[in-house]
Amino acid sequence: MKADIITLLRQRGTYVSGQELCERYGVSRTAVWKAMEQLKKDGYQIEAVKNRGYLLREDARGVFGRTEIESRRKSKWVGQTLVFYDQTDSTNMQAKRLAEEGAPDGTVVVADCQSAGRGRRGRAWTSPPGTNLYFTLLLRPRITPDKASMLTLVMALAVAKGIHKTLQPCVQCQAKDTAGKPASEKHGADATAVGIKWPNDIVIDGRKVCGILTELSLSVEQDCIDYLVIGTGINVARQSFPEELAGHAISLEEIYGSVNRSELLANVLEAFEEVYGQFLRTQSLEYLRPAYDALLVSKDKSVRVLDPKGEYDGIARGIQNTGELIVELPDGSVKNVYAGEVSVRGIYGYV
Ligand code: BTN
Repeated sequence: MKADIITLLRQRGTYVSGQELCERYGVSRTAVWKAMEQLKKDGYQIEAVKNRGYLLREDARGVFGRTEIESRRKSKWVGQTLVFYDQTDSTNMQAKRLAEEGAPDGTVVVADCQSAGRGRRGRAWTSPPGTNLYFTLLLRPRITPDKASMLTLVMALAVAKGIHKTLQPCVQCQAKDTAGKPASEKHGADATAVGIKWPNDIVIDGRKVCGILTELSLSVEQDCIDYLVIGTGINVARQSFPEELAGHAISLEEIYGSVNRSELLANVLEAFEEVYGQFLRTQSLEYLRPAYDALLVSKDKSVRVLDPKGEYDGIARGIQNTGELIVELPDGSVKNVYAGEVSVRGIYGYV
C-alpha cells in the first residue's frame, strides 16, 4: 500500500483526502495515518492538513528505497520481485545467493551502498552510499551459454535508453533541485551525448558513466544456463573517483544536474524489458543492432585492439548480430573482435 499511496500522491500533485485513501485501499483512517507515519520515517515529506488531506513534496533527487522504486516501476515482470538493501557486500553476490535459493526470473537486487562492489577483470567497484545506482538483474533465459555474452550488450542498450529517457523530460520539468534551481535550467537537452563504448561501458563526452558485470551459472550438465546475473553500476552523483579512474570517469549529475535514482532505475528496467524481448525473438542482436550501432561511440572511428596475441589498429564499423565488434584493417580485410579476449581503445584515449 505504501508504494501505491506514493504513486497516487505523486500523480495528483495536490492534496488527497484521508477519506479517499481509506475507500481506495479499503482500510481504516488509522491504517492510512500509520502508513503516512511510516512513509515520513522512510524520508518522504508529507504534509497533512485538516479538511484537505495529504500532500507529497518531492525534490529532484527524491527518496531512494524500496517504496520509491516500487512506486515508479513501469516494467511488467522485470523487478516485480525487488530486493533492496541499504548496504550489502555486492548486489551480484546477493543475486547469486537468491538465485541458488530459487528467486524468480526478473528479480532485481538494489543497494544504496556496497562494501565489496566488483568490477570486470577482478577489479573493485567503489560503491559509496547516497550517490550512485548499483543493481543486479537475475535472469533465467532458455538460451545456450555461448549466447550469454550478448545480454551484456542488451543491458548496455537498456541503460543508454534509460538514461536518455530520464534526462529528456527534464527540459520541461519544473521540479526544483536541492539548491532550489529548476532542474530544467541545468539538464541540458543534450542527453544525446550518451553513447556506448563496446561492448558495455556507457560513456558521456568520452568518459565512463556506467559499467556492467555479467556472471553466469551453468546447469550441472554444463549445456544450458541455470541463471545469470547482470550487475550494473551507474555513476549518478558528483564524487571523487579512485585515482586510476579519475581521468576517464564521470557522473550524470556533473553534466545534467540532479537525477532521481529510482526514476532512472525504473526507466532502465522498462527499457531492458523491451530490448530483451527483441533479443529473445531471434536469440541474437539482429533487431537491436541498428540502435546499438547508432550509440556506438567508436563507429567509423580509428580504434586500437589490445589483443594479448598482438595489438593492431583499424576502424570500427559496428557490431555483428552476435555482438562482436567489426573492425576494418588498413588492408581492407575485416576482423570480428570477441569481447572476452581483448579490449578496444580509441587511438587517442579511452573511447
Ligand atoms: C565494470 O568493471 O565496468 C563493471 C562494474 C559493475 C559494477 C556493478 S555495481 C552493481 C553490481 N554489483 C557488483 O558488485 N558489481 C556490479
